[in-house]
Amino acid sequence: MTEKFLARLLDEASRPYRAAGHFAYGFSRGKLSSDCIFRELLRRGVFPAAGGRFLDLGCGQAGLASWLLAARKLFESGDWPADWPEPPRVAELRGFELMAKDVARGRAALADREPQVVIRQGDICKTDFGRADIVTILDVLHYIDHPNQEDILRRVRAALPPGGVFLTRVGDAEAGLYFHVCDWVDRAVTFVRGHRLPTLYYRSLADWAELLRKLGFEVETVPMSEGKPFANVMLVARVPV
Ligand SMILES: C[S@@+](CC[C@H](N)C(=O)[O-])C[C@H]1O[C@@H](n2cnc3c(N)ncnc32)[C@H](O)[C@@H]1O
Repeated sequence: MTEKFLARLLDEASRPYRAAGHFAYGFSRGKLSSDCIFRELLRRGVFPAAGGRFLDLGCGQAGLASWLLAARKLFESGDWPADWPEPPRVAELRGFELMAKDVARGRAALADREPQVVIRQGDICKTDFGRADIVTILDVLHYIDHPNQEDILRRVRAALPPGGVFLTRVGDAEAGLYFHVCDWVDRAVTFVRGHRLPTLYYRSLADWAELLRKLGFEVETVPMSEGKPFANVMLVARVPV
C-alpha cells in the first residue's frame, strides 16, 4: 500500500525534471527513491504541517523542494497514507547552491513554481540567509571548513523564530568503518562530478549535537543510512518556543 503511494509520490516529484533533461530526470528518480531521508522526514512529521518559509542550503538541483511540493499536492488531493502526519505547506522555498549546473537544472524543473520556489547560485559561507521557519542542509556541511560550519550554524539559528526547525544530515566521524565507507564514496562522487578531490571536514556526532545545543537548539538524532553501509545521521534541531 505505502509502496504504491511512494511510487506515485516519486512520479509526481520527478516529473518536473523532464523539462531539465535526461540527466536531471534520472538523477531525481534515483536520488528521491534510494535515499531514505526523503520518505522519513514525511513519515516522521519532521516539519510542522503549518510549514512556512523554507530555506535549503546547498540544495543541489532542488530535489527536496520538488518532493515537498509533490507531497502537499498528493495530500490535498486525498492521496496520503492514513498513518502519516500531514505534510508541510510550502509558503516559500529559497534554495542556494554553489554549482551553476545544479542551479540550472533546478530552475528548469521548477520554473513554473516561481516565486514560491526560488533557486539561486551562491556560496552559503557568504549568502545572507534572511528569515526562515525551516532550514535544511542535507549532506553539505562536510564540504565546508570548521570555522565556516560554525558561522553557518550560528546564522541558521539567527534566521529562525521560536518553534523554527533546522534539519541537517551529517556523517558521524566516530562511526568507524561505516564512516570510512561514507567518506570514500563522497570523495569518489565529487571526483566523478568533475571536481578536484576535496578536503572534507567531519566531526563526531557528539560534536555536532553539542555545537547545536550551545546555539540554543533542542537536538534529536536519528540514524539515516538505511540499506547502505554509511554512517549518516539526521539531526533535527528545534528552537524552543
Ligand atoms: C551531496 S550534495 C547534496 C545536495 C542536496 N542537499 C540534496 O540532498 O540532494 C552537496 C551539495 O552541496 C553543494 N555545496 C557544497 N558547498 C557549498 C557551498 N559553500 N555553498 C553552496 N552549496 C554548496 C554542492 O555543490 C552539492 O550540490
